[in-house]
Amino acid sequence: MSKLTLDRVLQSQGIGARKWCRQLIADGEVAIGGVAVTDFRKIVDTEGLRFTLFGEEWLYREHVYIALNKPRDIECSRKPSHHPGVLSLLPEELGWREVQAIGRLDHDTTGLLLLTDDGTFNHALSSPKRHVPKRYLATTAEAVTPGLIAQLLEGVQLHDEPAPLAARECVQVGPCQIEIVLAQGKYHQVKRMLAAAGNHCAALQRTSIGRLTLDALGLAEGEWCYLEPDRLALLRDEPAPG
Ligand code: URA
Repeated sequence: MSKLTLDRVLQSQGIGARKWCRQLIADGEVAIGGVAVTDFRKIVDTEGLRFTLFGEEWLYREHVYIALNKPRDIECSRKPSHHPGVLSLLPEELGWREVQAIGRLDHDTTGLLLLTDDGTFNHALSSPKRHVPKRYLATTAEAVTPGLIAQLLEGVQLHDEPAPLAARECVQVGPCQIEIVLAQGKYHQVKRMLAAAGNHCAALQRTSIGRLTLDALGLAEGEWCYLEPDRLALLRDEPAPG
């Protein structure tokens, strides 16, 4: 159970600076249980807290966990340089909450991207020790051959890596398409592995992280949703191998 003053509640939800939150409260724009609360010092229990702001309902979230179906030509950085940033696809309050992408996708890679303002969770999920598997659908420039699949499964040497990197799974799904699962998250890993195996990546989509799949989320490109605990569990609890 956590208790906060109402102005801190609003600020924590990304509604704005403390001064602005206090003004909204004083103006009677914030209601709890249908009753306007005009004292910003009011202590509220944040557990399951719902309030309205300008008549719109908000659910208090200590942290936010977000899944986005990232389109092409969007950068994951909070400070993008050549394309719009991922925050341009999310409501403004999530930017104020300082959500960050968990790992990155290249600007031209589409598919499942997770974001959070929970630094501990971000760190834990992106830690190289976790080996959370990530599944990609890669379209290749040249036809897929059994030799390509074999190389990706056996491991290919990337020039700045101490040892060859191997796909955890790799299958052909079309004349120029493979599905590849990686346990690591190295920079441009799929593209560099394909290049090292003598092909070229023409398009790349991430289709799942852990047991969380883009299909199950049903998000169209550019759409996002909050991840509730049942879906977060698909990232945290890897079934034991075997
Ligand atoms: N591998 C890549 O090459 N690019 C991505 O965006 C993700 C994985």
